[in-house]
Amino acid sequence: MTHEYDAVIVGGGGAGLYAALEASKTAKTAVLSKLYPMRSHTGAAQGGIGAALGNVEEDNPEWHAFDTIKGGDYLSDQDAALILAEEAVHAVYDLENRGLPFNRTPEGKIDQRRFGGHTRNFGEAPVRRSCFAADRTGHMILQTLYQQCIKNEVAFFDEFHLLDVLFEGKKCTGVIAVELRSGELHTFRSKAVLFATGGFGRMFKITSNAFANTGDGPAVVARRGVPLEDMEFYQIHPTGIKGLGILISEAVRGEGGYFRNRDNERFMERYAPTLLDLAPRDIVSRAIMTEIKNGRGMRGDRKNDDWVLLDATHLGKEVIQAKLPDITSFCRTYLGIDPIEKPIPVQPTAHYAMGGIPTDLHGRVRSDGEGGIYEGLYAAGECACVSVHGANRLGTNSLVDLVVFGRRAGAHIAEFVKGASLGALRKDADGPAREEIARLTDGKKGTHAGRLRDRMEDIMMNKVGVYRTGKELTEAIAELKSLRDEYREVRVQDRSRAFNTDLLETLEIKNLLDLSYVTATAAGNRKESRGAHARDDYPERDDANWLKHSLSWLDGDKVKIGYKPVDLSRWQPKPRTY
Ligand code: FUM
Repeated sequence: MTHEYDAVIVGGGGAGLYAALEASKTAKTAVLSKLYPMRSHTGAAQGGIGAALGNVEEDNPEWHAFDTIKGGDYLSDQDAALILAEEAVHAVYDLENRGLPFNRTPEGKIDQRRFGGHTRNFGEAPVRRSCFAADRTGHMILQTLYQQCIKNEVAFFDEFHLLDVLFEGKKCTGVIAVELRSGELHTFRSKAVLFATGGFGRMFKITSNAFANTGDGPAVVARRGVPLEDMEFYQIHPTGIKGLGILISEAVRGEGGYFRNRDNERFMERYAPTLLDLAPRDIVSRAIMTEIKNGRGMRGDRKNDDWVLLDATHLGKEVIQAKLPDITSFCRTYLGIDPIEKPIPVQPTAHYAMGGIPTDLHGRVRSDGEGGIYEGLYAAGECACVSVHGANRLGTNSLVDLVVFGRRAGAHIAEFVKGASLGALRKDADGPAREEIARLTDGKKGTHAGRLRDRMEDIMMNKVGVYRTGKELTEAIAELKSLRDEYREVRVQDRSRAFNTDLLETLEIKNLLDLSYVTATAAGNRKESRGAHARDDYPERDDANWLKHSLSWLDGDKVKIGYKPVDLSRWQPKPRTY
């Protein structure tokens, strides 16, 4: 079946919905989502959205931009960070006007709390910048934007999984997707396509990411020759539930919670004397792993799966129930403990991709490091790399990124489609996707993709995690390459058409394998430590050689690497202390 739209948005999370809302002002717009949009992973963003409203203490967007750049270890493009911080204020009020139920101060203003790395006056002390709706901020953003999209008559294709992207030279002409309910392939012709497919944390064993976070957008475009930017930078959040990785929001520390090790020490004093437990995530995750390696984890056995405690008991029942209700319920359900009474056992968990599909400030996808772009192709949110987060994202800036840059991309599409036309449709446009599904379901004996997934998760966790070495990265690249080879012999067991989750997961694993391979290769290539990329064999940041973005082109078995300059128009890099 073939559909025609002015704008097709792939992904129904915050970035996709905001883009759809803006685009639909002029464009006939469709949103394709693998899920029902309300189940998108934006809903898992708990602690808040950063904006320098200054409602509870002095703040300004310039401080927010500076914190973002310093937090990103100076790899953030500074023009993008300034836009992020300035437009965050407008975006939050826009969401409020559209009905988002933010927590309030006693005077009725939007309440704000502290979050890691957000400071007043260029690093002096933590500032209250995160605007929040209890610990359900992302979920509330989804509700608000979805209602507005429905009002604007955006068409929703729920439970449609992306398979391929169509190009005519450097012009994007549409996408191919499979409808999960019927197994039928659909072709979407469109003047503009925006990818907002979210992250790919499922390549790691311990992750805060939903099962759906399999990097479908970046993997599909990478296989069609689009470069991926800064893939070596993957954020490990300090506080996942021990053994499971489910997120325990940084808001727990924003409200005053702190870490303790087996000696009952508040160990962050050693690593970040000013910001303590509210230092940026890369620093806190490394601090936890260092405590564990030195035998000060709770078990004391120096193994990577040891944990530390996050103590919120002193906050009291009222604060915890009013401001952290979801966290409380996660602890009761998954750990059988009540955080009002007992500290929470936590360990670092794979959380967020700083890298992704490279875009300019309007969300247009870049084709190289020299300013080339693809016509009609856009990306926003976690799957994109604008690049605002540099080498390490600050908490709350993911929601800011997706509303600010989702909105900007949608606004650009609304103008672009006025003068654009549909590209030609090749006769066999869905041929490659059809052949891939035919191979996977041909009934021949083959490996089950689940086995490859288990091995990939272990490789990524153990060799491409918080600390990395050249030796382990070289091993990881070789092992992932061989998993990609084995994937060629994979077959599904379920050959039915309707709701074939075996097939869906197999297609998703292919995406994860491709992105793991690119991530490990980019990490092996960058011979320095910066932000979330911490190499034991190159422990220092090396601005002379490495203050540049990487671009990775996936070309069959090879990953070709190029570079792109960093925008340093406002602040010069300095050593990072907290
Ligand atoms: O800790 C958190 O609430 C996560 C927020 C974020 O990743 O921005």
